[in-house]
Amino acid sequence: MTRVAVIGAGPSGLAQLRAFQSAAKKGADIPEVVCFEKQSNWGGLWNYSWRTGVDENGEPIHNSMYRYLWTNGPKEGLEFADYSFEEHFGKQIASYPPRAVMMDYIEGRVKKADVRKWIRFSSVIRWVEYNEDAGDFTVTVHDMVKDTVYKERFDYVVCASGHFSSPNVPEYPGFEHFYGRIVHAHDFRDAREFTDQNVLVVGSSYSAEDIGSQCWKYGAKTVTSCYRSAPMGFNWPDNWEEKPALVRVEGKTAFFKDGTSKEVDAIILCTGYKHYFPFLPDDLRLKTKNRLATADLYKGVVYVHNPKLFYLGMQDQWFTFNMFDAQAWYVRDIIMGRIKVPEDKQVLLADVAEREAREEASDDVKYAIKYQGAYIKELIADTDYPTFDVDGMCKAFFEWKQHKVDGIMDFRNNSYKSLMTGTMAPKHHTPWADALDDSMEAYLRN
Ligand SMILES: Cc1cc2nc3c(=O)[nH]c(=O)nc-3n(C[C@H](O)[C@H](O)[C@H](O)COP(=O)(O)OP(=O)(O)OC[C@H]3O[C@@H](n4cnc5c(N)ncnc54)[C@H](O)[C@@H]3O)c2cc1C
Ligand SMILES: NC(=O)c1ccc[n+]([C@@H]2O[C@H](COP(=O)([O-])OP(=O)(O)OC[C@H]3O[C@@H](n4cnc5c(N)ncnc54)[C@H](OP(=O)(O)O)[C@@H]3O)[C@@H](O)[C@H]2O)c1
Repeated sequence: MTRVAVIGAGPSGLAQLRAFQSAAKKGADIPEVVCFEKQSNWGGLWNYSWRTGVDENGEPIHNSMYRYLWTNGPKEGLEFADYSFEEHFGKQIASYPPRAVMMDYIEGRVKKADVRKWIRFSSVIRWVEYNEDAGDFTVTVHDMVKDTVYKERFDYVVCASGHFSSPNVPEYPGFEHFYGRIVHAHDFRDAREFTDQNVLVVGSSYSAEDIGSQCWKYGAKTVTSCYRSAPMGFNWPDNWEEKPALVRVEGKTAFFKDGTSKEVDAIILCTGYKHYFPFLPDDLRLKTKNRLATADLYKGVVYVHNPKLFYLGMQDQWFTFNMFDAQAWYVRDIIMGRIKVPEDKQVLLADVAEREAREEASDDVKYAIKYQGAYIKELIADTDYPTFDVDGMCKAFFEWKQHKVDGIMDFRNNSYKSLMTGTMAPKHHTPWADALDDSMEAYLRN
């Protein structure tokens, strides 16, 4: 029997399990699917942990999420096409759920699909190698419960281990003598730690914006953010200042490229993440930047140097859950022989080059959103994943972008219409800036 190993039970890995289960439900013969998850529960980044550093087994903590995290885009942009928020919660809910609400939704679909039995938890993938003669893979697994290491053979490997977990941690002159805490976003947990402090946030992307906003919401005295390439440029609250690049620190003083300086108590490095696969040898390891057209992936999922290896969710992400679904359904259909991958490697490389060139043709944000929307449409056209109004979803993202320009601390107070059910989300009972309780009970109280 054909055997498929899925590495990781986050949204991408779970999408792969759901894709196979949905084919089985329609009567297809599916391969044996085994998912290996290093944590003791599913959900990937959405499986929150208070821990930082290493977990109970001494493994690097995967979680990069924090308390009080709400989705940074409307939930209507990430809704599963085969499992709506209304189906899960029995009613339509407001548009920017906190993490616990999202975790509940993610779990709902896979509980319904009954795929937990396919997952081996507390199982760390240590190594994967390709057996040239047999044309299959040997996967080495560390079972943390039994504390045993074993090997198994698989015909296909799907790597869904995420890429927002291994922090990119730059060093600036003076860091070793700084009189305060320096922490990367990966290890940021509770904004209350920074109440009454002057916080410096390094970076100008989503983590910088949201972690700075968290600190502001939970009572930081001031927030200073600094950019290397371009400012975020929002209309910040009075106690938030945006500065050009950090140059060095001395004691508690941070110096910036424009010659100005500022006293700060803590530095939070929101400097992004690395695609990091310590369990893969050179011939199987994806090396790419965080971009829409990942290097070396035909159709964004097939590893061009070994087409029996697939990667899910490795792109930078405007779309998330429904893009992972589109990819997972596509990979399933390749494995099940329903979709053929060209045998000529040059064709695969040409596909990657075309995607890269098309991404690089414009740096306009709307172009990028439409580009990723077109990618989803391209994949789902070839599978039985339910089609949905991707263009409508792109429009929702454009609106979301404008809402942020209109009010960076208010954008989460807006509501959107579901592209899956056509229902309008209710307005949330409390503006985001005043909603300090992020529990599911508090959020669902309409
Ligand atoms: C701070 C933060 C906030 C975010 N907020 C949003 C948001 O609001 N909305 C949104 O749509 N997206 C958000 N994202 C994007 C996020 O990437 C996706 O939502 C989603 O979690 C990606 O799913 P994934 O399965 O690809 O990866 P992950 O969620 O990272 O899951 C990967 C899984 O692989 C497992 N794994 C890794 N290595 C191994 C190994 N060696 N052996 C076994 N298992 C392994 C991990 O334990 C993990 O469970 C956010 C990301 C970050 C970092
Ligand atoms: N739900 C939420 O609210 C939420 C919150 C946080 C993050 N997220 C998600 O998490 C993912 C990752 O976002 P991210 O912001 O962590 O990573 P990112 O989007 O990759 O951005 C990395 C940032 O770090 C900067 N940077 C990198 N190296 C640097 C250096 N040496 N010095 C100074 N700046 C440096 C980059 O600047 P340049 O532009 O100059 O390269 C960029 O601004 C995204 O998908 C995002 O949506 C969601």
